Amino acid sequence: MRQWQNEPRSLTLCVGPEKSNTTPSHTGSLDSIIFHSKEVLLSGTCVIGLQWGDEAKGKLVDLLAPRFDCVIRYQGGANAGHTVVHGDEVYKLHHIPSGILHADVQNFITPGVVINPTTMLQEIDGLAPRGINVADNLKISDRAHLVMPWHMIEDATINAVSVKGESIGTTNRGIGPCYRDKVGRTHAIRMVDLIEGSRDERIATVAEQKTVLLRQLGASDEELASIAPEKMVPLAASWAERLAPMIADTTDLILDAAEAKQMLLFEGAQGALLDIDHGTYPFVTSSNSSGVGVCAGAGVPPKWIDHVLGVCKAYSTRVGGGPFPTELADETGEKIRKLGNEFGTTTGRPRRCGWFDAVAVRYTARLSGVSRLALMMMDVLAHFEELKVCVAYELDGKEIHHLPSHADQLRRCKPILETIPGWNTPVDHARTMSDFPPGALAYVKRIEELVGVPVGILSVGPDRAQTIFTAEAAAMGLD
Ligand code: IMP
Repeated sequence: MRQWQNEPRSLTLCVGPEKSNTTPSHTGSLDSIIFHSKEVLLSGTCVIGLQWGDEAKGKLVDLLAPRFDCVIRYQGGANAGHTVVHGDEVYKLHHIPSGILHADVQNFITPGVVINPTTMLQEIDGLAPRGINVADNLKISDRAHLVMPWHMIEDATINAVSVKGESIGTTNRGIGPCYRDKVGRTHAIRMVDLIEGSRDERIATVAEQKTVLLRQLGASDEELASIAPEKMVPLAASWAERLAPMIADTTDLILDAAEAKQMLLFEGAQGALLDIDHGTYPFVTSSNSSGVGVCAGAGVPPKWIDHVLGVCKAYSTRVGGGPFPTELADETGEKIRKLGNEFGTTTGRPRRCGWFDAVAVRYTARLSGVSRLALMMMDVLAHFEELKVCVAYELDGKEIHHLPSHADQLRRCKPILETIPGWNTPVDHARTMSDFPPGALAYVKRIEELVGVPVGILSVGPDRAQTIFTAEAAAMGLD
């Protein structure tokens, strides 16, 4: 663990609504989730989704942010939808880090993120009437790439026409095409291009080239007219005017912060099963959404990362295409969708729902270096006589315990399900471990065993108060 030279900020993790340093105030019925509160040091901590996204990471980042100096969003773009509930107010954030609701926290959007300036400015304008002035505490990397209007057209066109079989079902936010141009380089536009003297010429040149390429892909005349250079050049100038004060070398600023022993919270977007290199390819997003993406996306070396909080729902969901072994295309799946309000924050699409897949989460927890799990949406499972958890797959007649690399293999996997009695009692009022019925604690214990990582946080609803920290969360930072 990192040695602190200056006096570090510390977090007192505790169970229940009020913070205290007393130990131990309660003992749960299971050894692994006996809790007490204690002071721990936090430094570089990552919040990573372990499933296919939508694990309620935004709630946790918002909750933990006041204990950190910086919140850093490092991959993905407006395909993400982070919902944060503050009292009666509901904030839906796409680009802006979930730490923005705390005036003392510095927020960063780093080189690994792809930014749609129009959407981002709408997001900023939506926060202003609610008293949040992002200009004070948001910095955007000059190295971050721009999602341009032609990327959205390319995304929709390719989604509609090009592949045989199952479509990836992207969010149509231009994410894949933008990352493709980033890697291809020739047609990329970065934040720094907006504030350079060569901006107008570059935008006009790329707009012309993209028009030729998109015509061949099948884009309509109307779509092509919308990206004409005479429209794109003034649009980029208007973005530059508003965004320039926030554009900065975030890499330098974050390294300064780390070296000054400030505490950094890295906010993952999407989930590790959507990771471009390690997820359920090709039904993935275009960035490294697992824990391995933090360093490259944020511009920090591994030495500044101490802890990884892996976030998963107590069941599984997925939006878009791709194999999903524990999917419940029946009444039970419908019941989970209804109880969990499982509809996409970004697209409004109904999410596919299924049982918890311990094979998949064990894989992503190991891949991401997860120290503790946050198990979310426990309240949704409170209305079932029995629950099931996937403990292995059967692939072509053989039992396997790993995630196969080919989508067709994963599609052929039949989940081997273990039945666990439901507790059938509401838990949304739970504020301490003693408020959980034994059946709920047994479910948590089984997930810890199967995934191989202790549960540090349980969530029983969208409100901040509906969060329970276990002794294992207190231990985070003392590894
Ligand atoms: P893209 O990221 O828009 O290219 O979409 C690729 C795949 O990732 C699609 O299946 C999307 O539904 C999924 N996806 C992208 N972002 C999110 C997210 O924030 N939550 C859940 N799924 C996502």
